[in-house]
Amino acid sequence: MVVDFGGQYSQLIARRVRECRVYSELIPHTTPLADIQAMQPGGIILSGGPRSVNQPGAPSLDPEIFTLGIPVLGICYGLQLLAKLKGGRVERAGQAEYGGRTLTVCRAEGLFAGLPPESPCWMSHGDSVVELPTGFTVTGTSPNMPVAAMENQELGLYGVQFHPEVRHTAFGMDILKNFLYSICDIPPTWTPVSIIEEAVERIREQVGDEQVVCGLSGGVDSAVAALLVYKAVGEQLTCIFVDHGLNRMNEAAQVEDTFRRHFHVPLVHVRAQDRFVGKLAGVTDPEQKRRIIGEEFIRTFEEESHKLGKSRFLVQGTIYPDVIESGTDSAAVIKSHHNVGGLPDDVDFELVEPLRLLFKDEVRAVGEELGLPESIVWRQPFPGPGLAIRIVGEVTRERLEILRKADAVLLDEVRRAGLYRQLWQSFAVLAAIRSVGVMGDERTYAYPIILRAVTSDDAMTADWARLPYDLLERISQRIINEVPGVNRVALDISSKPPSTIEWE
Ligand code: XMP
Repeated sequence: MVVDFGGQYSQLIARRVRECRVYSELIPHTTPLADIQAMQPGGIILSGGPRSVNQPGAPSLDPEIFTLGIPVLGICYGLQLLAKLKGGRVERAGQAEYGGRTLTVCRAEGLFAGLPPESPCWMSHGDSVVELPTGFTVTGTSPNMPVAAMENQELGLYGVQFHPEVRHTAFGMDILKNFLYSICDIPPTWTPVSIIEEAVERIREQVGDEQVVCGLSGGVDSAVAALLVYKAVGEQLTCIFVDHGLNRMNEAAQVEDTFRRHFHVPLVHVRAQDRFVGKLAGVTDPEQKRRIIGEEFIRTFEEESHKLGKSRFLVQGTIYPDVIESGTDSAAVIKSHHNVGGLPDDVDFELVEPLRLLFKDEVRAVGEELGLPESIVWRQPFPGPGLAIRIVGEVTRERLEILRKADAVLLDEVRRAGLYRQLWQSFAVLAAIRSVGVMGDERTYAYPIILRAVTSDDAMTADWARLPYDLLERISQRIINEVPGVNRVALDISSKPPSTIEWE
């Protein structure tokens, strides 16, 4: 169990624990002790956090947690809180430490079993432990930092000032494994196979012999959710794919192929292109496009599910980061990320959410284990409103066709260059302006295509990808030659913030 004190790496700690094949959950530090006990954790990790333990009102927790007989590992703020609550002293360090340091371990056993005497670690803190609590010993130091790690083996309490969850800490995963496997005695049994078995069992229990519907989007989350439910209850499930005509080249066909032909999942393919393009006629405002598409999607989905007769359950591809983040205050609405495929709260379905506790990399691992094709498992994120928000200005059939062709060229070249998986997203945007060109002996007056490729970890921030010039040249030449209606290709070199990934 990872107790969250608001640190930037809290989610990462929970993910790393799962990479060690141990199931973990991230819980707010305000969770009552009785609830923590009821969850019967095999080990507790206290995360880092931005505050100082000495500030009035700094996040804390019930010190009884240290007496439950459950091993505790405090990281950064977690270490300082452990030290303070057990009677030690924490003070502002002379100078805050950010970045790589050398960790010197006092004994290569227990938490540090198998570590060399010195190794790189990652520090990011202002405060330090200056006086150990009674019964604790120093187990690691770093330059200018007498207490880089401390423990009380008897009580099963451990703390590290550095961040084992960050890759720059060379032996970070070894430290986590030592904590989980040796100190907490938790076996590494959380694997894609075990995740599938548990999910299938839970779905069967929830659904019984009732009917279930699931909306497919073409993305990995809804695909994995659908396959898990199909594995659990077979043909009680019907999938509905609302084809709004705003998908990329061949995506709709791929959904058909994969689900109907390969997995034999009952599938309703709703060809609603005309309906959506009709509603979008004359609309240029991005938020209005989102609203129209969102509403139309819900209406179409409801109509189709009613035709099927009464289904009690609806499958949703909600994943763990959505669950964690929905608990926090949302920032200003920059774009209403209406998740098309997400339905409003007042639908009369009960939700089946088989991915609710999974991180994205686990969803992918499960997808691979279930035999989903690589093109779905590793598909780059794609917005629900699809190409409509990559066409600046009005969405028409003609402009959709232009963008779809240009986008297919870009993706084809990115894949050939072996860069598809490294890029968070790579796509084409159709601008609302035209410019003059010359083709053969003819003057042209046509649209430019803008290439957008970004690297990112979570879409909150993003950097423009430094694509090789020869790749850019191939993409540009091919688009201009192969896509009628385009006579110019430009490259978007903005990062997020202050730009956003999508153009609308
Ligand atoms: P921005 O453009 O805000 O995008 O930097 C961040 C991430 O969100 C995706 N995105 C959307 N996803 N509905 C979605 O389901 C939307 O309306 C939407 N708008 C943006 C975008 O592709 C990127 O991954």
